[in-house]
Amino acid sequence: MRFKKPLDLLLREASESGEGTLRRTLSSYNLVSMGIGAIIGAGLFSLTGLAAANNAGPAVTISFIIGAIGCAFAGLCYAEFASMIPIAGSAYTYSYATMGEFMAWIIGWDLVLEYALGAATVSISWSQYLIKFLHYYDILIPPQLTMSPWETATLADGTVVSGICNLPAVFIIVCLSLLLIRGTKESAFVNNMLVVLKVAVVLVFIAVGWGFINPANHDPYIPANTGNFGEFGWSGVLRGAGVVFFAFIGFDAVSTAAQEAKDPKRGMPIGIIGSLLVCTILYVLFSHVMTGVANYTEFKDSAAPVAVAIAKTPYAWLQQAIIVAILAGYTSVILVMLMGQSRIFYTMSKDGLIPKVFSNVHRKFQTPYKSNILFAVFVSIFAAFVPVKIVGEMVSIGTLFAFVLVCIGVMVMRKSDPDTPRPFKTPWVPFVPIGGIVICIAMMLSLPADTWGRLAAWMVLGLIIYVVYGKKHSLIRNGKINVPKDPPNPQIIE
Ligand code: ALA
Repeated sequence: MRFKKPLDLLLREASESGEGTLRRTLSSYNLVSMGIGAIIGAGLFSLTGLAAANNAGPAVTISFIIGAIGCAFAGLCYAEFASMIPIAGSAYTYSYATMGEFMAWIIGWDLVLEYALGAATVSISWSQYLIKFLHYYDILIPPQLTMSPWETATLADGTVVSGICNLPAVFIIVCLSLLLIRGTKESAFVNNMLVVLKVAVVLVFIAVGWGFINPANHDPYIPANTGNFGEFGWSGVLRGAGVVFFAFIGFDAVSTAAQEAKDPKRGMPIGIIGSLLVCTILYVLFSHVMTGVANYTEFKDSAAPVAVAIAKTPYAWLQQAIIVAILAGYTSVILVMLMGQSRIFYTMSKDGLIPKVFSNVHRKFQTPYKSNILFAVFVSIFAAFVPVKIVGEMVSIGTLFAFVLVCIGVMVMRKSDPDTPRPFKTPWVPFVPIGGIVICIAMMLSLPADTWGRLAAWMVLGLIIYVVYGKKHSLIRNGKINVPKDPPNPQIIE
């Protein structure tokens, strides 16, 4: 039997959530801006360099295009759900209403990889850029305190030191978690400012760097494969797509605002696809310039490749301004990710699938503070001790997996609930969802085997928790839905 969460219950919960009467205030412009705000971050400013140095060379531009196509297909499927079920909770909620509790659990659990580990990944990159920034003022943090124990650095005197933990990354996670506990919210104004700042940095970099592209750095555009899958050649381009896919994560954050969109039918597709389109164009131009100004091999050990590239131009003085803008941009991404994580677990906890502690709200601040504290600890552990490459790939595989499930969900829903009104319909079903599934799985396959192992281990842990706790405490499954008036019966289908 599948236990689905009834749509009318979801809509009632949404109206009870106290999000106020100003719900439908976000225009299409705001949504595109929100998408870009959540999208541009470490993927562009840090992982581009790693993907170019280790996988694709200058053809990292093609990796970006492959990633964008996969995201566009998945994005169209998200848009159908977001316009059909315009409430909070994103993929977790859609699947609870459409595919049932088990799939909802799988997606909710999987989304921890996207949001919590996403925040960890961006915080590690934040730390790298902070070090660059402080270095300018001769403030040096001992390298041992800025790396995971699995990483090493060579000091000026040639000594090689191993990392202990990444303290600046933990610092930013703790600060932002405290802000979240205090109920600090990014207003649309602040978000728009950050987006303007981030986009300005990208445009300045492209404009400044364009004149300093050395064609020799782009030759060959696709470096020959080394003999190993994923190391240059076309397999490298594909693996590069799996790595830089991280740069697109966040467009689904637009779908979490479906409840606040003025016109979800128009706003969702425009917000999701519009922000993807703008970012793809910027990413391709940015990476073309980056690998043209400096040789891709120079990014090998650099977590702050923009600084490497800028140093090649006579505009090195721009570095500090650019780094400050990048730090601000990262900060907003981390904040949104931590917030998204606590929101998903809040919903899951309300449904009884995870302990109540995740939905305990602070009396004064009205925030899920215990959840914020627990995730501050969880995310900090990853930020402190895991190398950025590993945690970044876990985020990518986890998010790709969620996209695959959303694409499947659209097809399932078309069969199971053909008559439910769909303000926005994914075009060319099943071609688009199947295309999304194929591209996302191809990117997943291009990721290293140990990343798959970690995904499997995470999902097995999730299944154990579901069997031991979630199933027993599920409100829907146990008929304990707490709705004040006319509680609708849980819809149980074969
Ligand atoms: N797309 C976001 C970033 O690149 C997660 O930081």
